[in-house]
Amino acid sequence: MSGLATTLCGVPLRNPLVAAAGTAGYGPELAEVVPASTFGAIVTKSITPESRTGNPPWRVVDLPAGMFNAIGLANVGLDRFMTDVVPELAALDTVVIGSIAGHTLEDFATVAAGFADPSAESIRLVEVNVSCPNTATGRLFGDDPVLLADVVAAVVERLAGTPVLVKLSPGSAGVPDLAEIAVRSGAAGVTLANTMPAMAIDPETRRSRIGRASGGLSGPAVHPIAVRLVHETRRRFEEASLTAAIVGLGGVLSWKDAAEFVLVGADAVGIGTGLFVDPRLPRRIVRGLDSWVRRQRVAGIRDLQGAVES
Ligand SMILES: Cc1cc2nc3c(=O)[nH]c(=O)nc-3n(C[C@H](O)[C@H](O)[C@H](O)COP(=O)(O)O)c2cc1C
Repeated sequence: MSGLATTLCGVPLRNPLVAAAGTAGYGPELAEVVPASTFGAIVTKSITPESRTGNPPWRVVDLPAGMFNAIGLANVGLDRFMTDVVPELAALDTVVIGSIAGHTLEDFATVAAGFADPSAESIRLVEVNVSCPNTATGRLFGDDPVLLADVVAAVVERLAGTPVLVKLSPGSAGVPDLAEIAVRSGAAGVTLANTMPAMAIDPETRRSRIGRASGGLSGPAVHPIAVRLVHETRRRFEEASLTAAIVGLGGVLSWKDAAEFVLVGADAVGIGTGLFVDPRLPRRIVRGLDSWVRRQRVAGIRDLQGAVES
């Protein structure tokens, strides 16, 4: 399916489908269910310097509108990630994107320095999660333009050449502004977007349906919101003459959802909730995109990037 071959921040991908952060375990777990070679890339769970147990249950709830989660960045921490997980990443037949999260600028810089270690050379790209709605400070660096610029510059410096994507929240004001700041601070692109901050309450108990007052909504309900964010941000990059990548992410359950992201200018397309819905979806989406490219009579999917008629 060479018509789907593309690049993300200069890194060749066999197709534009990316398994989203936190929905593919650390990477190897997903590969037990779906061959890694199905994907153009897999993003690891977000890693913090120290291990985190995450939020109390329930951490994932099904809502009519989609999936509602408050995992709270549960992960083994940088040291165990480096010793236990990183050696397994090289065996994955796909591009691995490492994901960084933290509470302070030093946290982000520490994990970035770890990912820059030669032992982690299988991490070809890095995504910076400044948009987690499920911890007290998860969105601090994604909402404040000054903090965002500082954290991106610090991570880019530590990574010394590994391209950086900055993952923003659909709940932030002025996403194209924030995306422009991220790129001007050294990011190679942005991922749009994380889960939508949301609430769901059980009227009988009068309590949140999740182990936190609020959580993050993903799945079909957020898809049109993310499509618009990609469209606006691509336009902004063009107006500002910035060459930067966009990963469209949110509610992809079919090839048509993925194609929408490509048409509004995404270089690659993430899938998270869809992996839980049906593990056969990734293969179906890739096949569907391949036939779409043929029907559109273009040489490859890159010819359809940003090709929306408006
Ligand atoms: C269970 C679960 C865990 C997630 N964990 C992370 C994470 O560790 N880091 C991150 O950047 N995003 C995380 N996300 C957000 C997803 O990567 C994605 O941005 C979001 O779910 C929207 O895409 P979707 O509608 O395809 O699921 C998580 C989402 C879910 C549902």
